Amino acid sequence: KQYALILAGGSGTRFWPLSRNAKPKQLLNLFGDTTLLGQTIDRLKGLIPVENIFILTNELQEQGVRECAPELPAENIFAEPAKRDTAPAVALGIGLIAARDPEATMMVLPADQLIQDTASYHQVMADALTVAASSESLLTIGIKPTWPCPSYGYIERGDALQLDMPELKNQVYQVSRFREKPNPELAQQFLDQGNFSWNAGMFIWSIASVTKELAQHTPELAKFIEDIAAADDTKAFVKENFPELTPISIDYALMEKAKTVLNIEATFDWDDVGSWISVAKYLDEQGDNNKTNTELAEIDSQNNIVFNARPGTKVALLGCDDLIVVQTDDALLVCNRHQADAIKNLGGQLPAEL
Ligand code: GDD
Ligand code: MG
Repeated sequence: KQYALILAGGSGTRFWPLSRNAKPKQLLNLFGDTTLLGQTIDRLKGLIPVENIFILTNELQEQGVRECAPELPAENIFAEPAKRDTAPAVALGIGLIAARDPEATMMVLPADQLIQDTASYHQVMADALTVAASSESLLTIGIKPTWPCPSYGYIERGDALQLDMPELKNQVYQVSRFREKPNPELAQQFLDQGNFSWNAGMFIWSIASVTKELAQHTPELAKFIEDIAAADDTKAFVKENFPELTPISIDYALMEKAKTVLNIEATFDWDDVGSWISVAKYLDEQGDNNKTNTELAEIDSQNNIVFNARPGTKVALLGCDDLIVVQTDDALLVCNRHQADAIKNLGGQLPAEL
């Protein structure tokens, strides 16, 4: 059977003051009707039955995650007792799914991406699940890179595979190398070489294949998975043992080292929505290239991003350019748009709950 494991425990500070420790990017309502996590769950309709969708988060965000996922069985949402990055989280998810179905094929999905073409998404993911179920490979999804972004993983495509599987709609490639977060110079070399994709952060594999690779490269996690299956009281076992695991991301712990990695290129749109600058692309335009979600009073102002999360209040701009202005119930941000990536640095000067 097929399962999805959604990772929804990351912390994002680039969307302050809308994002808070208990409310990172995946729990924000940036685009109108639902949160990015809510969209991630909705996108699985018709692909994975709700009872086979698991979400991992942490204790601080658990409440918010449950509110985004009312249709999921309550026991499919699990809060990690400590923050250990994605490799331990993925191992925990594998353990939980394996306890239910050791023959499962599963996909690991980030909770914080914007994808609108659901039909193509289903086609790509269905192909990946098919290949994962019938091979020992770990499947990745590649995104056509547009600039040498140093905060993504890079997938080097090798030969196109000749598979005797007429039901597949997409070409499957061998992966000759997986390289997480290269420096900008190396990322530029990858782009120049032409056969690299960004890693979408989605992984598709059978429980058998992934545990085999983990046993080789991170025995600590392979053992943890085995022990979860054997534990009488899963919650108690996790509470005691999860915090002992080494913090590392799945990209470094497994994907850079694994031998049998394959790739399918995404045919759908993909946006990792990293900052207010990327949100602006989806907001309405007013006046001279001002992007906003609110009704703006504006004179002589251009290239501003204005996000108002306080209904009933007004924002006015007069003679100012290149600003990010974000208003919430209890905070106001005014930031030069060229410093959007540095918003996270404000953290040290704000009270913990902010
Ligand atoms: N449950 C849980 N626990 N989830 C976590 C944790 C954790 O400790 N840490 C992060 N996550 C979640 C995030 O909420 C996000 O949905 C996903 O796991 C990926 O984590 P990020 O921290 O956002 O990773 P990244 O953006 O630096 O890099 C990954 O994604 C890129 C694409 O967006 C990598 O896979 C890159 O290779 C990839 O290009
Ligand atoms: Mg991310």
